[in-house]
Amino acid sequence: MAEPARGSADRSADFVVVANRLPVDLEKLPDGTQRWKRSPGGLVTALEPMLRHRDGAWVGWPGVPDAEVEPLVEDGLQLHPVTLSAQDVEDYYEGFSNATLWPLYHDVVATPTYHRHWWQAYVRVNERFASATARVAAQGATVWVQDYQLQLLPAALRRRRPDLRIGFFLHIPMPPVELFLQLPWRRAITEGLLGADLVGFHTPGGARNFRTLAVRLGGAKPAGRSEVVTRDGRTVRFGAFPISIDSSHLDALSREPAVIERAKQIRIDLGNPRRIVLGVDRLDYTKGIDVRLRAFEELLAEGRITADDAVMIQLATPSRERVDHYQQMRADIEQAVGRINGEYGRVGHPAVHYLHQSLPRDELVAFFLAADVMLVTPLRDGMNLVAKEYVACRSDEGGTLVLSEFAGAALELKDALLVNPYDIDGVKDAIAAALAMSAPEAGKRMRSLRRQVLSHDVDRWARSYLDALGLPPAEEKP
Ligand code: ADP
Ligand code: F6P
Repeated sequence: MAEPARGSADRSADFVVVANRLPVDLEKLPDGTQRWKRSPGGLVTALEPMLRHRDGAWVGWPGVPDAEVEPLVEDGLQLHPVTLSAQDVEDYYEGFSNATLWPLYHDVVATPTYHRHWWQAYVRVNERFASATARVAAQGATVWVQDYQLQLLPAALRRRRPDLRIGFFLHIPMPPVELFLQLPWRRAITEGLLGADLVGFHTPGGARNFRTLAVRLGGAKPAGRSEVVTRDGRTVRFGAFPISIDSSHLDALSREPAVIERAKQIRIDLGNPRRIVLGVDRLDYTKGIDVRLRAFEELLAEGRITADDAVMIQLATPSRERVDHYQQMRADIEQAVGRINGEYGRVGHPAVHYLHQSLPRDELVAFFLAADVMLVTPLRDGMNLVAKEYVACRSDEGGTLVLSEFAGAALELKDALLVNPYDIDGVKDAIAAALAMSAPEAGKRMRSLRRQVLSHDVDRWARSYLDALGLPPAEEKP
């Protein structure tokens, strides 16, 4: 993303998005200068295009500790930075958000850590976000709070500003009740969410989990309709709103001659393998990168494929690099890549190409277009936008998607080859089937996937959520 234009930001927005991160991260360069770059992850991918079409403000952290940044305007969007100290980053972001809540909400695929001082930081930072948002929002404004880092915010904001219409959307899975009950602060979190007028999840299962918790822990009473509860005389609605991507934009990008040319060049650079297998993820232990590497390695070991038949590329955006589980997983993955290449590669022809880098958007589209088989194998994922991006980019109706049944996207992308990522033999069979799939069969599946992704884009998601919240349709910006 280009460096944002600086300007003044007024403090009376009618529509405010609040997320842990701003859509751009401040980067401090070694020479002491600073620049802005696009923030990582699916939340920004989804919300940024939606906000481009409406006037609004975004309250969030600029991505580095101790950054005292004045409000600014970027692409017509007011950005209101919230400062986090180095201690806040350690305790609220790396600690409670990403070493307590993240693993707990993702099926405890890593063991969550419970520390009281992390919880205190989470409370403190949520209160700070509430004060910052209360200053920005106009009388009667609509505020849309995003994700697990800010679950106390709806109630904290309502205490300060009862005039506001408050929505909350959880971008990660709402866990089964049995897991959520581990959390020592389960009641406070449930009460925090119940401060919203509408609580959104990716799947009906997540909404059902919330309903049970709201009644059991939050003192809410079931109302007549299944997706409504009442509490303290207020109505709280909730429901499933599966998030999506800017499908038509990606579709258009994938048709650009320069992108098509680049996709061809990628294949040439790889030595013209018969098949290219691709993974694209934030480097996160929930994404099952280890699962697909193991499946690929076993297929090579058993001679079901050779490194000339199929080359694997894994693109991994650096993520949460100071959190223990992430450091361990990175070491494991890099060791596995080294082992596979040591065993099955040739000079100039590794079996697995691994980039620990975030790629520009059009370059990523070229990789999607070049990939014959896309592997999306999370152990648990709220939605997984990468799966939808791959489909949107296959304007040529080629390519086969292998998708974990534990990604929210599996509920919509039924014509993918669905796999249980815990069943390595099943994953191997799916990869082998994808590599051997005939062009007519792949085309039939891809056409059906594309119908779903192109007709259910991020605008439709945002509109359905905001309609349910009662926000009038946006006045389209020119
Ligand atoms: P999460 O929100 O957990 O990161 P998603 O799959 O929903 O997972 O969203 C990830 C977003 O990050 C997608 O828009 C994807 O294209 C982008 N992304 C992932 N890896 C890379 C990479 N190596 N380079 C550039 N973008 C990436
Ligand atoms: O959707 C999950 C999510 O945690 C978002 O909240 C976040 O923007 C993205 O992934 C990237 O994570 P982080 O902000 O921790 O780098």
